Amino acid sequence: MYYNIQNIPLTDLAKQFGTPLYVYDADKIIEKIAILRDSFKNVNLKIKYACKANTNLSILKLMRKHGVEIDVVSPEELRLAMMAGFEGSQITFTPSGVSFDEIELAAELGTRINLDNLDVLEKFGKQYGNTKGALIRLKPHVFGGGNEKIMTAHPESKFGISIHQKEEILEIVNKYDMKIIGLHQHTGSDVKNADAFTQAATAILDIASNFKDLEIIDLGGGFKVPYKDGDSVTDMAEVGEVLSNAFLEFCKNYGRELQLWFEPGKFLVSEAGTFLATANVVKTDPIKTFVGINSGLNHLGRPMMYGAYHDIFNASNQDETEQNEYRVVGYICETDTFSWTPEGKQGERLMNKVSAGDIIAIKNAGAYCFSMASQYNSRLLPAEVLVIDGEAKLIRKRDTFDDIVRNLVSVEI
Ligand code: LLP
Repeated sequence: MYYNIQNIPLTDLAKQFGTPLYVYDADKIIEKIAILRDSFKNVNLKIKYACKANTNLSILKLMRKHGVEIDVVSPEELRLAMMAGFEGSQITFTPSGVSFDEIELAAELGTRINLDNLDVLEKFGKQYGNTKGALIRLKPHVFGGGNEKIMTAHPESKFGISIHQKEEILEIVNKYDMKIIGLHQHTGSDVKNADAFTQAATAILDIASNFKDLEIIDLGGGFKVPYKDGDSVTDMAEVGEVLSNAFLEFCKNYGRELQLWFEPGKFLVSEAGTFLATANVVKTDPIKTFVGINSGLNHLGRPMMYGAYHDIFNASNQDETEQNEYRVVGYICETDTFSWTPEGKQGERLMNKVSAGDIIAIKNAGAYCFSMASQYNSRLLPAEVLVIDGEAKLIRKRDTFDDIVRNLVSVEI
């Protein structure tokens, strides 16, 4: 457990900015960027932050400042990336099943585009021929990912063009003399097994020699981070070595040094985030004790959505002599348990004694937490704070009631 971020007590942050509150530690993000670079130090690496994990403008600016480029999936993420100062050429657009209008917009803005179905490949070829380069997103038929909802490269996945459609792809590429500058694949999220990365990379590299204009091999994101003590994670040194070797071998045979791209989301930001909420009630019933916090699945949905494990602790009480088992729950009017067991069941956590008013901290809240939050139950979205150079800065104001009614149109009924 940690009770401070860059020497600022979590309880002070809660007091200063109120709860519920997302807090991000810039140092942690910078540390993770360095680890990734180090794991792939022998290749021409480009990191493209998958910003769906956390699109706060200040996080995007931090990435940019540290030489990380960006992967976006919607025109809105694209606009945010540009607001953060990224140039078109530093942005990759990796959408899934979007209208061609969005692809055109991204092409006009000079982004790199991952085309993910044959129809769009054909339209792109017809429209741009060899005047604009593009990448093709392939589906390598590989199983990898923390649970079935976040696996994206298996045979039944909606993502990418199957590697078994190689002939159809080549026919379209040749027909329009297309300039395919890269091949892309993304295996899934929370992929801990180095084998899954290797299998996927092998499948992509096997097909790659069919394309003569390649500059990029993009192997997506998905590195698994620790969610609790002793958790198994992607062994970055191992993955780095195995993938770099396979990639360098390919480049040698291909006759040119290409760039190796990754698009991590969780790896860069998950551990940097802590979610702070206040214990509204401690409710003892004959079977268990609940801690009800002033938040719910609307603000941090990963536990209820994926059965995800997030460490939870009492930031207001460091005294370990009195601990109890608590089921930590939210205030939403349906079951919204935060405390899941490692086996993926709703359960209890051993925590230092909780009293009403204590600040409850939830770890690994930097990725897919705020970005997936909603106003369900007409609740306000939390504020966000970035701790940077020892200073806590507000990077998103808490919603107000105005944000809930902003787009309502009141009609005579
Ligand atoms: N590249 C592509 C094409 C992706 O679809 C994703 C994630 C990433 C990169 C980044 O994956 P990461 O490094 O963050 O694992 N909401 C889920 C995760 C969904 C991931 C969607 N795509 C969760 O909270 O576990």
